[in-house]
Amino acid sequence: MKILIICGSIAKKSHTRALLKYCEALLIDRDVEVEFWDLLTRPLSFVIPEFHKDPTQTPNENVKALNGAVVAADGIILGSPLYHGSYSGVLKNALDNLPYDALKNKPVGLVSNGGMRNGAHPCEHLRLVVRALYGYVLQSQIGTGEKDYNEIADGFELEEQEIKDRAVRLVDELVAFASVLKERPINK
Ligand SMILES: Cc1cc2nc3c(=O)[nH]c(=O)nc-3n(C[C@H](O)[C@H](O)[C@H](O)COP(=O)(O)O)c2cc1C
Repeated sequence: MKILIICGSIAKKSHTRALLKYCEALLIDRDVEVEFWDLLTRPLSFVIPEFHKDPTQTPNENVKALNGAVVAADGIILGSPLYHGSYSGVLKNALDNLPYDALKNKPVGLVSNGGMRNGAHPCEHLRLVVRALYGYVLQSQIGTGEKDYNEIADGFELEEQEIKDRAVRLVDELVAFASVLKERPINK
């Protein structure tokens, strides 16, 4: 099984990235192959509307590679910081660079971080967009605040046990739904 994680924060030190790295480690513990797409180190060109029907024709190698990674993935985790009451523009641009049914038969976990632990808005807004891309959003979602992390040399690490427990639940839900949909796809 392959899971794609997309980090929608391009901060050099990012809480969202730390949360996603925690989820990545849980997936690896469960023998899942993970591709971690960090939009800081693998940026995408702005969506080119002329390629909307087939974004794989976009003349940007990272856009092509992201489309390949989405096709290969059995499930996805999207992470975003809280930006002006919603999710980040870089993550929206990544989703805009995918075809309309890119998430067909794929379960999607949503996580977010805001200054305080009020990060539900990015997840709630992403829920609508994932549905539009034909994806199945998990019941579990995680919204953290900066106090849930410790600062370390090159970023942050997740500290709060309650959030760690939620991450276990989200990852287990994702793996369970991904194996069912892989065996028995609903939308062929
Ligand atoms: C453009 C921008 C908009 C933001 N908007 C909000 C906001 O609406 N509400 C809020 O509480 N924090 C807001 N913040 C603060 C971020 O949510 C906060 O710094 C968060 O920790 C960023 O996550 P990250 O460390 O993963 O990048 C904003 C930050 C930026 C850069």
